[in-house]
Amino acid sequence: HEEFTKVKNIGKIELGKYEIETWYFSPFPSEYSDCNKLFFCEFCLTFLKRKEQLARHMRKCDLKHPPGDEIYRNGSLSMFEVDGKKNKIYGQNLCYLAKLFLDHKTLYYDVDLFLFYILCECDDRGCHMVGYFSKEKHSEEGYNLACILTLPPYQRKGYGKFLIAFSYELSKKEGKVGTPERPLSDLGLLSYRGYWTRILLEILKKHRGNVSIKDLSDMTAIKSEDVISTLQSLELIQYRKGQHVICADPKLLDRHLKAAGRGGLEVDPAKLIWTPYK
Ligand code: COA
Ligand code: NA
Repeated sequence: HEEFTKVKNIGKIELGKYEIETWYFSPFPSEYSDCNKLFFCEFCLTFLKRKEQLARHMRKCDLKHPPGDEIYRNGSLSMFEVDGKKNKIYGQNLCYLAKLFLDHKTLYYDVDLFLFYILCECDDRGCHMVGYFSKEKHSEEGYNLACILTLPPYQRKGYGKFLIAFSYELSKKEGKVGTPERPLSDLGLLSYRGYWTRILLEILKKHRGNVSIKDLSDMTAIKSEDVISTLQSLELIQYRKGQHVICADPKLLDRHLKAAGRGGLEVDPAKLIWTPYK
């Protein structure tokens, strides 16, 4: 984890209509390390040193959305699936960009092994990236998400929980449970805790607590360990005679539901057109 010690190199970036202050070091090729600001094509993620270069690029670049397949569309919200093997440069550029906002992930991955799910807000000018998550094509550990990012101008609006919900919808289609790769950042953990809490509370309320941990896991594609740790943090579970027992007092459920944050933007599963990667 060499980049822990590395100083932030790129101060800000331009992406679409936004200028964004960066948070962390990212291993851009050395010829870029002396630029305080980098200019990104918001569609193909090519990065350039000067505004004039970007203007020239934008006149030539045909893309108006991420490469790959649109697998979800609901109103102006769209999700694209990009195969890192088919779109290697895009995948690498996305990793450079994401690392600017992630402190602890090593991103020297082989992008070939990953799928990237890009969330966009679309208008008449094109589909503008809001955030994304990556997912290993084959995860031995049962991870359904590797990295997640909402670009800073879009944070705290429910997009993070949308991306998390989307990762579980993919797991449901695969007929598997999933869990995010660890370690999670503080913001990542807060977002997951918020998502898990709300979704589990809603089911417990609906079923008046008459569900097992296995039922909860099956219904949500959330791995049992994550179900248990969430219910433990809410004091809705007891360990009796070697077994976890859910004790969902209706009053306590209501109190927790009131305290739980907003639900985030909803994923409509009917609008997901997707088959698992083979
Ligand atoms: N301060 C306090 N709580 C925060 C927070 C902040 N700055 N940002 C998010 N949260 C918590 C809140 O509980 C929030 O729910 P609420 O708004 O209903 O209270 C919840 O997380 C999720 O908010 P949401 O708007 O759905 O998420 P987001 O679009 O802001 O994205 C991340 C969340 C984690 C994707 C985003 O913060 C991010 O990209 N961070 C940098 C990259 C990173 O750390 N990724 C995870 C590591 S793999
Ligand atoms: Na990762």
